[in-house]
Amino acid sequence: MTQPPSGVVAIYPGSFDPITSGHLDVIERGSKMFSRVIVAILQNEAKQPLFTVAERMEMLRESLTGFSGVEVDAFQGLLAEYAMAKGARVILRGIRAISDYEYELQMALMNRRLQPGLETIFLPASETFSFISSKMVKEVISLGGNINGLVPPLVEDRLKRRIANYKRTSST
Ligand code: PNS
Repeated sequence: MTQPPSGVVAIYPGSFDPITSGHLDVIERGSKMFSRVIVAILQNEAKQPLFTVAERMEMLRESLTGFSGVEVDAFQGLLAEYAMAKGARVILRGIRAISDYEYELQMALMNRRLQPGLETIFLPASETFSFISSKMVKEVISLGGNINGLVPPLVEDRLKRRIANYKRTSST
């Protein structure tokens, strides 16, 4: 497929705390399927994120330079309402393992109930990335492990600085 079908806008929602190589892979593949992909960060401070929404947006934008038809945004409240406000009729989600499927299916059905016609499309994660999650990347780096290739290089730098900063402030 050389040209994505015209007119279909997809939302790729998530926490992206921070973006991983697995997310990038889904965005790249999604950008070949839809005319616009809106990568939308959920603003939910209750989750106690490592990075602010502004920082996550910046990392996403920097990681996505060169991707055409992809934009970055943030939203609050119901995803189904946000999707409608953006004129999107597709939600894009990556599935890493069958264990992801139960929760993802529940969300997909709830979103379609809230907004009939809003379809969720699942992309299976590429084998290389199927074990990566933002949570695990943060755990590995905070314990001194190597995360090279699991996140874009600019995210790796930011993570190293953020973790070093945390360690410095918590030891004083
Ligand atoms: O990256 P995540 O944390 O797996 O993303 C989860 C996300 C943001 C897709 C999900 O929590 C969400 O859509 N939240 C918005 C609130 C909402 O619409 N809830 C009802 C349907 S599940």
